[in-house]
Amino acid sequence: MSKIIAIANQKGGVGKTTTAINLSSSLAHFGRRVLLIDMDPQGNTSRGLGIDSTILKSSIYDGLFKDVDVNRIIKRSVMKTLDVLPATLSLASADIEAMGKETHPFYFLTELIKKIKKQYDYIIIDCPPSLGLLSTNALVAADSVIIPVQCEYFALEAVAQILSTIKQIQNEYNEELQIEGFLLTMFDSRTRLSIEIAQQIRGLFKESTFITQIPRNVSIAEACAKGLPIILYKPTSAGSLAYLSLAKEVLDNE
Ligand SMILES: Nc1ncnc2c1ncn2[C@@H]1O[C@H](COP(=O)(O)OP(=O)(O)OP(=O)(O)O)[C@@H](O)[C@H]1O
Ligand SMILES: [Mg+2]
Repeated sequence: MSKIIAIANQKGGVGKTTTAINLSSSLAHFGRRVLLIDMDPQGNTSRGLGIDSTILKSSIYDGLFKDVDVNRIIKRSVMKTLDVLPATLSLASADIEAMGKETHPFYFLTELIKKIKKQYDYIIIDCPPSLGLLSTNALVAADSVIIPVQCEYFALEAVAQILSTIKQIQNEYNEELQIEGFLLTMFDSRTRLSIEIAQQIRGLFKESTFITQIPRNVSIAEACAKGLPIILYKPTSAGSLAYLSLAKEVLDNE
């Protein structure tokens, strides 16, 4: 049985893409067949795995709205059991494309995933920094959601907003949607703010916060810029060990 996990938070720059790439590659490292879906027109997930989105003939946009065979869009990655469904800027017009079609606007991704679900153990979806149509498609298609929380100001406000969206989706479209966990990202043990935010989140969501915290670690950002997962770029770095540990927690939830 495959599991579909969305990585979502409407707040920008909290580590969604970094987590999507490095959780996916860590799950692949443990032998799971993983598909990483880029649902962000910024295309950072695709680039972060070394895929040049400017030369792609087709992207997820064509799979969602143009009936192009999704298997022809999927790209292999540097890791044997990790595939990527890349996005390009064309995805920015999803709102317009989804109008007036037979499919309900919130179910395009659900329909697409149906066609390939059997080929994978995990499908990880990187969401854009908004709670619009693309993120909603992801949350409607997903079995669970990971919410990265950056240990910075306004983290809690963002969490309140995404929780309210999740509740709405559970009520109206996807009763089964679960919270896989809150993930503390860019944690810096030298700053009081990091420690305070971490304590607040753990206090509020004890059961559903991952034990693993992702440290602020320059190798993580470098790996992304080089188009590599951290476990290949710097396998023994703190960032690499943290994402492997996160993957183990996700596997333990199986
Ligand atoms: N643990 C980390 N340590 C250091 N830098 C990090 C870490 N995680 C992410 N970054 C850097 O922070 C920036 C934002 O991260 P990322 O792109 O993953 O966030 P995002 O939530 O996907 O952003 P967006 O909302 O724009 O999609 C990037 O430059 C990334 O390289
Ligand atoms: Mg992103």
